Amino acid sequence: MTKRRAEITGWGKYVPEKILTNDDLAKMVDTNDEWITSRTGIKERRIRSESDTTTSMAAAASLDALGVAGLQPSDLDLIIVANSSPDYLLPSPANYLQHSLGATCPAFTIAAGCSGFVYSLVTAHQFIETGAYKNVLVVGVELVSYALDYTDRSTCILFGDAAAAVVLQPSTNGAGVISFELGSDGSQAHHLWVPGGGTVNPVSQKVVDNREHYIRMNGQEVFKFAVRKLTTSLNNITAAAGMTVGDLDVIIPHQANLRIIEFAARTLDMPMDKFFVNVHKYGNTSAASIPLALVEAIQEGRLKSGDVTGMVAFGSGLSWAGAVVKMGEAISNPVGIPAGAAITA
Ligand SMILES: CC(C)(COP(=O)(O)OP(=O)(O)OC[C@H]1O[C@@H](n2cnc3c(N)ncnc32)[C@H](O)[C@@H]1OP(=O)(O)O)[C@@H](O)C(=O)NCCC(=O)NCCS
Repeated sequence: MTKRRAEITGWGKYVPEKILTNDDLAKMVDTNDEWITSRTGIKERRIRSESDTTTSMAAAASLDALGVAGLQPSDLDLIIVANSSPDYLLPSPANYLQHSLGATCPAFTIAAGCSGFVYSLVTAHQFIETGAYKNVLVVGVELVSYALDYTDRSTCILFGDAAAAVVLQPSTNGAGVISFELGSDGSQAHHLWVPGGGTVNPVSQKVVDNREHYIRMNGQEVFKFAVRKLTTSLNNITAAAGMTVGDLDVIIPHQANLRIIEFAARTLDMPMDKFFVNVHKYGNTSAASIPLALVEAIQEGRLKSGDVTGMVAFGSGLSWAGAVVKMGEAISNPVGIPAGAAITA
């Protein structure tokens, strides 16, 4: 019998209504649409309204994903949330999401920055592969705007808020997670970090005055790291799956910057139309980026049953994570309950 794998059987997304365009940002910091578009490919991003919380956004995406899979929250065996922007520092967002959905299963959070969703997907795959759990919800959610310094033009233009979720269930017909790579290089942690608010440099008036509670980034170092990891990880995960990058039907890269994706495409000698791109609409939504692209690729018909996709994320840590995933029958035959309609949470 074919090995048991974690197949994607449900998917959903939530993006806040409020759109922040490049022209809006030009009224806040010394920048302009031409600079942002040419350096990043980003045209606009979504920013939370007051009613959007990490939990509410995660719950909205999760209910859609459960609806597509035809599951109730009570059917879930495990919830994993990828997040670095929690509603509260304690407990973790997974506990709040579990309660919000009305689920009773275990729940935990993985904080691996923009790599968090793929880390979580791979973790969920382990529980399914061993037979420990059957119905696992994996959510990538970020309210990055809370950690952005809207006086720092080098960071505030890049990020946006979003949530996206998948339901994973066992398959034995070849669909699901085929191979993966997880990585961390903590020696480069200082290239993308929040210097204040933790135990070394706790919240204080000085931290706030120095704006150390916001994200700081060395853009050029992160750019070089990103291009390197996107290309090497795509080669590594496809080799581990007994394939080449050219065999992938669709590549889903972390949506950080169009130029990073274009550099990687050139290095790999792959056409740009092999890469799914939605960074122009949402900017970098961190842990929500890969699942948001994955969900839109499914909803737009770019990914079909039998297709094989390679996803690679990179980000704070510095970390990276990639996975090759084969889409199963669920893509063509979702249970089809309209967005959250049959869910009683
Ligand atoms: C941030 C990034 C877009 C900057 O682009 P860049 O080409 O490297 O630009 P530089 O940092 O060299 O800055 C060039 C100039 O533009 C200026 N600049 C920076 N941000 C600007 C903005 N929003 N608008 C206008 N000018 C800007 C800089 O101050 C600098 O000016 P100077 O030459 O007078 O000093 C790019 O480095 C990047 O995308 N890095 C990766 C970031 C990322 O993806 N992070 C998340 C990973 S998960």
